[in-house]
Amino acid sequence: MADGSAASALRPPIAMLAELTHRCPLQCPYCSNPLDLQRRSEELSTEEWCNVIRQAAALGVMQIHLSGGEPTARPDLAEIVAAAQAAGLYSNLITSGVMLDEAKLATLKAAGLDHVQISFQDSRAAGGDLIGNFKGGHEKKLAVSKLVREAGLPLTVNVVVHRQNLDRIEEIIDLALALDAHRLEVAHVQYYGWALTNRASLMPSRAQVDHATEVVEAARKEYRGRLAIDYVVPDYYARYPKKCMDGWGSQYFAVTPRGRMLPCHAAETITGLEFPSVREGSLAEIWASAEIFNRFRGTDWMAEPCRSCEHRERDLGGCRCQAFALTGDATATDPACSLSPHHAVMLATAQAEADSGDPDYIYRR
Ligand code: SF4
Ligand code: FES
Repeated sequence: MADGSAASALRPPIAMLAELTHRCPLQCPYCSNPLDLQRRSEELSTEEWCNVIRQAAALGVMQIHLSGGEPTARPDLAEIVAAAQAAGLYSNLITSGVMLDEAKLATLKAAGLDHVQISFQDSRAAGGDLIGNFKGGHEKKLAVSKLVREAGLPLTVNVVVHRQNLDRIEEIIDLALALDAHRLEVAHVQYYGWALTNRASLMPSRAQVDHATEVVEAARKEYRGRLAIDYVVPDYYARYPKKCMDGWGSQYFAVTPRGRMLPCHAAETITGLEFPSVREGSLAEIWASAEIFNRFRGTDWMAEPCRSCEHRERDLGGCRCQAFALTGDATATDPACSLSPHHAVMLATAQAEADSGDPDYIYRR
């Protein structure tokens, strides 16, 4: 896309994040769900989800990420998986694992599930159970990971990292190897919503981040062909921001438990916006025409310094949710960018918080 207009940027989405429910037995203090959790009575029905899946496939989506909350809290998960398979989508279950057992996994596999991603909170039980506020959770995850591999399903281990577990990066890599995972996702906390509330407890130091980056780069070389490692860097210490979501309304969308269609899973943290419902319009109409999907597509919406910046096509101005969280203005340059007028304050805040004590977590409820 050369001219940056929303119209010229419009391509079909490749992936949908289906947030089937906000219910979850864990209470991680960096949860990406909104502060205002949606109730079970508001959730889309089985048939509504199956209809959304068929529409997504017709729109061009190839992958569905079944997430939450905890998606296995939905008793109709196998029916939803079967709908994804019938529509030709590659299905990835993103789960804490604590509600799974051998029989449930067998049912999901028979329904056509293609891949399982299990989130660990730490390499050690004490740290993991503390973050999730769920006693015995870590041991259960170990057992379920083994069942996933015994069922012949590919496994991704996901670990969100922060100040209080980052020094165990070597152990985290060893954990993924021991579990025979195909992929390890090491994702630094992204600070909006619950994570912003808990930022002082979670922010790592630059030295911790630099060490972890070195360890990951060495492990990528050592385990090439055996374990793929995705590494999401903490952009508080970056020079330029990440191209968040590969661009707003560019390749992905999310559907919330009650059917709001979002250009980004965290978009509801930007207050004052209206998000269309899949109960009121088709996915194709919303993707192409909804004002909120076009609002930050391309580069036409940018203000300075992004508007005249040579990097604007590369990072599209960074993350809209982070820009709003830190400046109150979703059109601002992401403060993770060193060219942002807010960058110095962001960096100083990060450094001060990394040096602070460890306040108690504020858990999601
Ligand atoms: Fe990217 Fe904007 Fe920073 Fe330029 S000023 S590097 S476009 S975020
Ligand atoms: Fe929403 Fe980056 S998390 S645009």
